Amino acid sequence: MGCKESEVIFTSGGTESNNTAIKGVAFQYQNRGKHIITTQVEHPAVYDVCKQLEGLGFAVTYLPVDREGRVSVEAVQKAMRPDTILVSVMHVNNELGTIQPILEIGQWLKQFPKVLFHVDAVQGIGKVPLRIKDSGIDLLSVSAHKFYGPRGVGILYKREGLIIHPLMMGGGQEGGVRSGTENLPAIAGMAKAIRILEELGSVEMIRLQKLNQQLREGIATMEGCVVNTPESNTAPHIMNLSVPGVKAEVLLHALEEKGFLISTKSACSSKVNEPSRVLTAIGIERDCALSSLRISLGRENTPDDIQQFLKALEECVSVLRTYIKQQPAPAHRK
Ligand SMILES: Cc1ncc(COP(=O)(O)O)c(C=O)c1O
Repeated sequence: MGCKESEVIFTSGGTESNNTAIKGVAFQYQNRGKHIITTQVEHPAVYDVCKQLEGLGFAVTYLPVDREGRVSVEAVQKAMRPDTILVSVMHVNNELGTIQPILEIGQWLKQFPKVLFHVDAVQGIGKVPLRIKDSGIDLLSVSAHKFYGPRGVGILYKREGLIIHPLMMGGGQEGGVRSGTENLPAIAGMAKAIRILEELGSVEMIRLQKLNQQLREGIATMEGCVVNTPESNTAPHIMNLSVPGVKAEVLLHALEEKGFLISTKSACSSKVNEPSRVLTAIGIERDCALSSLRISLGRENTPDDIQQFLKALEECVSVLRTYIKQQPAPAHRK
């Protein structure tokens, strides 16, 4: 990770790292100011923490994003206030794969040493390079299960010398920031997973990029399928698409029957029948957002998998469309 041993705090995963970072800063520096800047497209482990802090008297600016799901440095600049204490922006969006301009934001923020910069890097590790030290990052969240490590373990990077309010009090482990006996087997598993990432290096990222391209080109030729993930400046392992008119859940189960496991929205927080907050933020219409699916590519996927998936998708969409057409129009309510 390019940081010192003392800057690594072991946690139970991305959710805990995000909570510890955001609330830790909020509670520690509330006398300095109570304003936090974040974006409309954060994972709930950031977004809902900010909502909770609003309930505790903090003011939060949720920055809008462009059609590709990207926040601009200018938006951060405009939102800055004398009472801003924290800026929290994710590295890679978990629904779209969009990469945020972390380096630019972090470098601009360097002129405000009292405004801390947190990055939720859960989706980026091993997929999109990020240099913590160059990017002016004070706090960064990592989760092991996103890079083939065990579930329920993660890291919070905390810049040396930075003091945050601990959420857990007790035996003073992890520099007093996260008391509680560490989950050693899981930490060892995570360390091994990081070493494997290092060994694979950029070869795996390039391989995933090729699979992503094959998938994108295949979907683009399918009638009625819309790719929501932007074409450039995105992570190689996430592809979001919509099939307007076909309910995401129905398509998901049809694909599942053919052996393909994909998800609607974020795999770890799927709520049915609500359009995705992220897709709504980029201006996608409700009907299109309700029919969106997220495909994740991983280490075990091959070009043959993509070919078979595209075939299965085409078949499922065609069967479902025919079925929908045969249904009688809904009766009008009196
Ligand atoms: C961007 C992002 N942040 C945070 C999390 C939560 O991480 P964890 O499941 O380790 O708590 C996820 C999970 O998918 C995520 O995608």
